[in-house]
Amino acid sequence: MSDGNAQGPGSGSSADVARLLRQRVELGGDSLFMGGLTREEALKLAAAAERGVSPAVTASAPRIGSDKDSSPRPVSEPAKKESSRASRPAATVAAPRSTSAVLPVLPDSYDELREAALACTRCELAESRTQVVFSDGAPTARLVVVGEAPGANEDKTGVPFVGAAGKYLDLLLATVALSREESVYICNVLKCRPPANRNPMPEEISACSGYLHGQIELVKPRALLAVGSFAAQLLTGNEKTALGRLRGEVHSYRGVPLVVTYHPAALLRNPKWTRPFWDDLQLLSQVMNDG
Ligand code: URA
Repeated sequence: MSDGNAQGPGSGSSADVARLLRQRVELGGDSLFMGGLTREEALKLAAAAERGVSPAVTASAPRIGSDKDSSPRPVSEPAKKESSRASRPAATVAAPRSTSAVLPVLPDSYDELREAALACTRCELAESRTQVVFSDGAPTARLVVVGEAPGANEDKTGVPFVGAAGKYLDLLLATVALSREESVYICNVLKCRPPANRNPMPEEISACSGYLHGQIELVKPRALLAVGSFAAQLLTGNEKTALGRLRGEVHSYRGVPLVVTYHPAALLRNPKWTRPFWDDLQLLSQVMNDG
């Protein structure tokens, strides 16, 4: 992390983010603070924050608002909001998942692992995907962020978190001086898009999880951030525990500190989860600074 003080060259950008967040609170707004920010702009902001440093925000930072997004990829947490995903077939509603399956032979080089994933046909999603969405960010990153599964934009571009939820995530990470350009590696539990953005199925998670375990093993991050219940449950091994009960503490994934939080798409729909997300980010930041 760029762990310096707030006087660096990029501090203007990160301070701006913090100031905007506060302004929203003071105005009592729930509404958009990202406006028409493009992904490039968000990444630029993140990079500037990274070069500069941590903004002047703390665990007691004020409540912040959220983007009223037009089409974030629907996600699964908390469980009850699943009903809002009109397009999901009823048969695919969350079921208990297994974390036991691994790839028969896990390649021990990053490039081989990636190549294996790009050619993967281990589950039926291989038939419906446009392309495999393996990761974004540097394989030398200090933080690995794990989401749920690619959505339509990701399936089209091959890059995870490029939609509205991804922009929002980039912006929130920038507030703690993290960017996928320098310090964040981002990927998903599933590497292929489930049709109509339905929930990942247990057998798909089982078939795919070896890639994620391999990614974490090879990237060797200082910390992990799981966003959304699928990533949180898989990485904590608590497959039946609600996300709300998993967040707020530091878990350990094979010795790597793990913080879990809500999915950014959930924040776009439900601004009230932004504050807990914010708190979780502060916890993550502490963990990364302590490490
Ligand atoms: N939601 C996810 O969980 N992952 C993506 O890559 C995009 C949206």
